[in-house]
Amino acid sequence: MDNRPIGFFDSGLGGLTCIASVSRRLPHEDIIYFGDTARTPYGSKSVKTIQRFSAEICDFLLQKNVKMIVIACNSVSATSLGFLREKYKDIPIVGIIESAAEKAIDDAKEGNKIGIIGTKATISSMAYKNIIEQSVEGADVAQKACPAFVPLIEEGIIENDIMNLSVKYYLDHFIAENRINTLVLGCTHYPFIANNIKRNYPNLKLIDPSDEVSRQIEKILKKKDIVACKDGNKQFYASDVSDNFIRMVQEISEDTNIAINIKDLAI
Ligand code: DGL
Repeated sequence: MDNRPIGFFDSGLGGLTCIASVSRRLPHEDIIYFGDTARTPYGSKSVKTIQRFSAEICDFLLQKNVKMIVIACNSVSATSLGFLREKYKDIPIVGIIESAAEKAIDDAKEGNKIGIIGTKATISSMAYKNIIEQSVEGADVAQKACPAFVPLIEEGIIENDIMNLSVKYYLDHFIAENRINTLVLGCTHYPFIANNIKRNYPNLKLIDPSDEVSRQIEKILKKKDIVACKDGNKQFYASDVSDNFIRMVQEISEDTNIAINIKDLAI
C-alpha cells in the first residue's frame, strides 16, 4: 500500500480526459495534475524543447512526493518517454501510447484499417505506426497531423461550426482515401471533439488512449503493491490562468469551487 499521490501532466487541459477515466477506475488514489497552459501547445515544438519542459514538470511533481508519473500527453510520450525514464530511474513513469496501440493492434488483427491522428510531434515520431505495423503482419497504418485542433480546444472552440469545418478539413479526405475503419485519437485533447468526429463519420470506431491508460496504471500499481487505501483527492496546477482550463477542471472534478493553483515553471 502507498497513499502518496499519482502525478499527471500535459501541455494543457488535454490530460484532464485521463483524470476522468482514472478517477472512475481508481477512486482511492490521490491525483496531482499539472497543465502547462503557459507554454501550450507542445506538439508543434522541437523534441529538445518538449524534453526540457517535461523534465521541469517531473521535477515539480517529484517535489510533491508522487509515487508514479503519468504522461497524459501523446506528444511527450512519443518524443520523451525514454529520456524521462532514463533521467528519473527511481519512479515508475507511464506513457500513454503503448496501451492505446495495443487496442489498435487488436483491431488491425481483425482486418480493420487503422488511422492515427495527433500533433506534429506525435505523427513525426511514428510511434503508433511503428508499434502497430511491427506487431501485425501486413498492417498499413495511415496517419495525419492535425495541428489546429489543440489551440482551438484550449480556447473552448469545440461544439460549433469552426471546429466542424476543421474536422472536415483534416479528416474528410484522409478517412475516405485511406478507407479508415478505426481511428486512434492520438492526442489527449481530441476526446473533447469525439462527438463532433462521430457525427461526421458515424461508422468509424474511435480509440481513446485516455481510457486505455487507466487500465495500465491499475496494473502497475497492483504489480508494485503501491495501491492507495483511502478516499482519493485531486489537486490541479497550471502554469498560467486560463478560463477554459478552470471550466474543464470544474466539470471533471464535479466541483465548481475547486481551486486551481498557479505554478510558473519557466526559468
Ligand atoms: N495533449 C497533448 C497530446 O496528447 C499535447 C498537445 C499539444 O500541446 O500540442 O499530444
